[in-house]
Amino acid sequence: MCGIVGYTGLRDAYPIVIKGLKRLEYRGYDSTGVALMSDTLRVYKKMGKVASLEEITLGKELGGNTGIGHTRWATHGEPSDRNAHPHLSASGKLAMIHNGIIENYGQLKQELINKGYQLKSDTDTEVLLNFIEEIKNNNACSLEEAIRIALKRVTGTYVILLIDSEMPDTIIAARKGSPLVIGIGKGEHFLGSDASPMLEYTKEVVYVNDYELAIVKPQELILKNLGNERLTPYVQKLDIELAAIEKGGYEHFMLKEIFEQPKTIFDCLRGRLHADTGTITLSGIEQYSKALQKANRIVMIACGTSWHAGLTAEYIFEECCRLNVEVEYASEFRYRNPVIHPGDIILAISQSGETADTLVAIENAKAKGAIILGVVNVVGSSIARMSHAGAYTHAGPEIGVASTKAFTAQLAVLTMIAFKIGQLRNTISQERLSALLHELEAIPAKVEKILSYVEPIKKIAKQYAQARDFLYLGRGYNFPVALEGALKLKEISYIHAEGYPAAEMKHGPIALVDEQLPVVVVATRDSYHEKVLSNMQEIKARKGRVIGIITEEDTAALELCEAALHVPAADEMLAPMLNVIPLQLLAYYIGVEKGCDVDKPRNLAKSVTVE
Ligand code: AGP
Ligand code: GLU
Repeated sequence: MCGIVGYTGLRDAYPIVIKGLKRLEYRGYDSTGVALMSDTLRVYKKMGKVASLEEITLGKELGGNTGIGHTRWATHGEPSDRNAHPHLSASGKLAMIHNGIIENYGQLKQELINKGYQLKSDTDTEVLLNFIEEIKNNNACSLEEAIRIALKRVTGTYVILLIDSEMPDTIIAARKGSPLVIGIGKGEHFLGSDASPMLEYTKEVVYVNDYELAIVKPQELILKNLGNERLTPYVQKLDIELAAIEKGGYEHFMLKEIFEQPKTIFDCLRGRLHADTGTITLSGIEQYSKALQKANRIVMIACGTSWHAGLTAEYIFEECCRLNVEVEYASEFRYRNPVIHPGDIILAISQSGETADTLVAIENAKAKGAIILGVVNVVGSSIARMSHAGAYTHAGPEIGVASTKAFTAQLAVLTMIAFKIGQLRNTISQERLSALLHELEAIPAKVEKILSYVEPIKKIAKQYAQARDFLYLGRGYNFPVALEGALKLKEISYIHAEGYPAAEMKHGPIALVDEQLPVVVVATRDSYHEKVLSNMQEIKARKGRVIGIITEEDTAALELCEAALHVPAADEMLAPMLNVIPLQLLAYYIGVEKGCDVDKPRNLAKSVTVE
């Protein structure tokens, strides 16, 4: 959701900030704006895209070596020009941008109104900004000190960037619950919600932590905590290339990321999977081996596609570790009073590592003594840093809003964690484990094979693109795959699609079946295969249009399909990493056929950092 960019240094800030905002567009937003500091402080802001911001700045004064920029995802105050960021303080001397939610803004707003403040917008951000200025004026203290005092009163989440007319080369930033990365240049510094705005200038970055405050000047970066203690910035060298963030010749980021999966699964396994020696190395969780051995329950917490990865993993963990596994929607878990005991293992699954519901859910669980293991894609993200330990999915930047490569990478990591725990608990034989490790090692090549023949999928997409509804069915390991396939179609093509356990058809959904309804059945060879074939018979008998995801050479299944997509055979435990690929492509090509914005679907954002 939305993004922040900042620059201070020797160059003109405007071009760098605008380009940075464009690099963050994939995060989803409704408004945008910049503030530039030269001899005066200038703000340009607008509801709509960055391109429309550029239109209103044409011919305007855009000088200044310090600047901040924002893409907004409205939480307080509808999307509009006046609610767009940056906001100016009452004195006009301060400009601020903010990502997050100030939960107690109402109380702060009342205090300001009681003191005669007249706010220009409906946002919580403007309240916080004037609250800071009020403290600065009242206490006759520095802006930095005023920010520290103010943030101690704030509840909610924020990353804020402020510029002050009285300190033209300085940006003050602070964060809690929303991401902030600072790029280290030569005589210049860059700030962003992630590394993409700064990658072309520097690969040396500092991930700012919660409750930290940064005073950023061209030649100097000072990091402090809210207690005003100096901290030593931990500078990391990034190993992602800008090209990784470009489309790489594909029409859409989503298609590029689908085709990256042989490599991303391989990267995920690399250095961890040792099929020859029958071992798994997960250094990130080694230190919790004892706890994993003793644990009597695992709770997986996630949202959306990541929740589907957790649901798939539930079957694998039960099979390999003989452990109680619960898979929880973070958005439900965080508002209940769940039973969590010290020592319970929580697996927090998140591509972005910034999903607000997941972040708060694990914060609550951590407070109850649970051990939080993160399965996260974005290095240095909030959920990664909230976790005690974990294993990154190493899928690289996932720009398309619809999660694809992150999903299969999550499955690969979760599978290895299950294997590791099974080994620790002696609940899986070494022989079975060794066979599975070799199977897992072969997955990237099998994904490659599926991706080598997409023409049939394109054809099927054209054939069914005008359907109004879809049903997706699967059993066992393939039930979560059906849910994921349905979600992909929904969010990319806006066609209503529902995933269901195939065996549940007879308890209601079969009433939906008629000659208008395409029913995608994940029917690969596994221990449920015969039952699934019967389900396909039932649908066919009612003139339903069966689209089968079937194992190569499965003639019995093929006879029951109006259209079929083939995948190589694989152990049913690992088959979801293969079976989801045709469903990702089906959703993508139907979305393209319908002229949808497949990388940035309407109403959605890549990272849901607000509740
Ligand atoms: C999936 O395609 C969606 N983009 C969405 O459901 C996503 O999986 C969900 O918001 C969770 O995001 P996270 O993995 O970054 O936490
Ligand atoms: N809560 C702020 C607003 O509504 C910031 C939202 C965001 O993260 O963009 O303006």
